[in-house]
Amino acid sequence: MFYEDRLPIHHGRVDRLPEGISALVVTADLQGRERFQDSPDGTPRLLGEAVPQRLAEDVLPTLGIENPHHVAALLAGDFYTVPALDRRGGTGDVTAVWRAFGEQFSWVAGVAGNHDVFDEDRKMRPRFHSPLHYLDGDSINVGNMRIAGIGGIIGNPSRPQRRTEADYLTTLEQLLDEPNEVLLMHEGPDGPGPRQRGDSRIRELLERPRTEPCLVVRGHAHWDDPFAEYSNGLQILNVDARVVILT
Ligand SMILES: [Fe+2]
Repeated sequence: MFYEDRLPIHHGRVDRLPEGISALVVTADLQGRERFQDSPDGTPRLLGEAVPQRLAEDVLPTLGIENPHHVAALLAGDFYTVPALDRRGGTGDVTAVWRAFGEQFSWVAGVAGNHDVFDEDRKMRPRFHSPLHYLDGDSINVGNMRIAGIGGIIGNPSRPQRRTEADYLTTLEQLLDEPNEVLLMHEGPDGPGPRQRGDSRIRELLERPRTEPCLVVRGHAHWDDPFAEYSNGLQILNVDARVVILT
């Protein structure tokens, strides 16, 4: 049993983009596969393997962006779905998704979701090299912007992509010691809206007056309204099961 669904693609505007970049593609939780009729070799690829080329050829040109080298991608995790399509998601290797974004665009920065595995070893960081920037409790400077990231979720650390609550919050606090332009997370804070689910302990850290305003990108839990802002100016973009193009 499987069903077809549409992937919402939104367009948002930002004050500042990384140097050399005219659009950021931001997405998470693409827990599906392409349609059978679109599969080049008969086995539907992960949705995230097919999306970058479709964006570059069909979507970005409608925004006046013809050169994919001027586009970068921010990935917030959970890009796997079982090939049998008999359930949504599942845990598996998402290396091909990262590589597909990297082949199409200038660079990629991202974090792992709680269902993401890279190669065989479930506990190892992926061995990605530039232009793929994997973040988990660290940050990079790219295009004159600091992008920090923390992947996975709060949970039992003997399972992949999980940290204890204390470890997660301490790591997050350390990342917030420096000013960031973007903070990438998989799990994330709740929003002020009624159905903007998330972790209130994460929100408490992000909402402190001394936290420098930045754009927090998260996935993992779906919000019908993908955008929120706290009183300290920090903005949250929830890209669970959607693509947002920022220009
Ligand atoms: Fe998740």
